[in-house]
Amino acid sequence: MALLFSPLSIRSVTFANRLWVSPMCMYSAVDGVVQDFHRTHLAQFAAGGAGLIVAEATAVAAVGRISPRDAGIWNDAQRDAWAPIVRDIHERGTLAGIQLAHAGRKASTWWPWADERGSVAPADGGWQTVAPSAVAFEGFAQPIAMDTAAIEELVDDFRTAAVRAIDAGFDVIELHAAHGYLLHEFLSPLSNQRTDEYGGSLENRARVLLRIVEVVRTAIGETVPLFVRISATDHAAGGFTPDEAATVSEWALGQGADLIDVSSGGLVAHQSIDVHPGYQVPLARTVRRGGRIPVSAVGLITAAAQAEQVLHEGAADAIFAGREWLRDPHFGLRAAHELGASVAWPAQYVRARWR
Ligand SMILES: Cc1cc2nc3c(=O)[nH]c(=O)nc-3n(C[C@H](O)[C@H](O)[C@H](O)COP(=O)(O)O)c2cc1C
Repeated sequence: MALLFSPLSIRSVTFANRLWVSPMCMYSAVDGVVQDFHRTHLAQFAAGGAGLIVAEATAVAAVGRISPRDAGIWNDAQRDAWAPIVRDIHERGTLAGIQLAHAGRKASTWWPWADERGSVAPADGGWQTVAPSAVAFEGFAQPIAMDTAAIEELVDDFRTAAVRAIDAGFDVIELHAAHGYLLHEFLSPLSNQRTDEYGGSLENRARVLLRIVEVVRTAIGETVPLFVRISATDHAAGGFTPDEAATVSEWALGQGADLIDVSSGGLVAHQSIDVHPGYQVPLARTVRRGGRIPVSAVGLITAAAQAEQVLHEGAADAIFAGREWLRDPHFGLRAAHELGASVAWPAQYVRARWR
């Protein structure tokens, strides 16, 4: 039996398979409110055999948006716009997760297809960014260092966002602590130069993330799976390391996280990455610590046999794919066919099943 199409249970949730849709920003929200676009976009994967769909990085505060067009969940109108999307996913028999995010010093930037690059000036609808330290991402505007009151507010923003996400019907919460956004900025010594209890030692750099894990776990109760996406290396000298990532992951599990979604990079512009098929899988294996820490692998995993191999080798417990789902929203149906596994087809599509 294909491991990729075997079920996985975490807390009260059973994922029908282990081929999941990775969170992908669509830069198509209005005032943080998701639109009809998001509804059709996400529902197509639910009809395509995904075991879980994690909706894009969704800001827990207005200043935490990567761009003015990011999705948000810091108010009730935003929550209410998510609810029918989750319903659509559920109606197609798939589970829905949301990635809660704050972009920190990489907030207030132009969306990828805008005419301009870099930071959006306040006059053009941008805003002052915040970060652990007043250290800019190369080429972006300088952030303001957060004081302890701002950190307390941040923790509470994640808590209220998680409550709203549960109220909207989401089955899984993922905290975005990767790709150089705010929680990753706290973890890495390259962006965190604080001298208080939130900077310096690994324990101090991890303090904000661990508090958020703890507070979100309390807010969502014992039944809901809580994932944390990390960048397990900065791909730059003096940065966050895979060993540190594994240690922080173990601490996060202790605070109530269930699975670590292992990605990498994004913290500094001068990163040097050797990008090739499955390039982040060794990082997932390191963080997994021989099976003690449940992990997902992501990054250029584009074929059924390749994904199956990652699970077979014991490098990960589940697979997130991103761009392959954009190329083929029915990637899950095709992958099951290729592995000779069974997956639930939408009743309306059954006549198209490969025989
Ligand atoms: C259009 C696009 C948007 C993305 N947005 C997010 C995001 O919101 N949150 C996140 O953690 N990663 C984001 N990513 C990264 C993907 O989740 C994934 O980790 C990455 O694309 C590598 O996987 P892949 O090779 O299967 O695409 C994005 C990637 C793409 C292509």
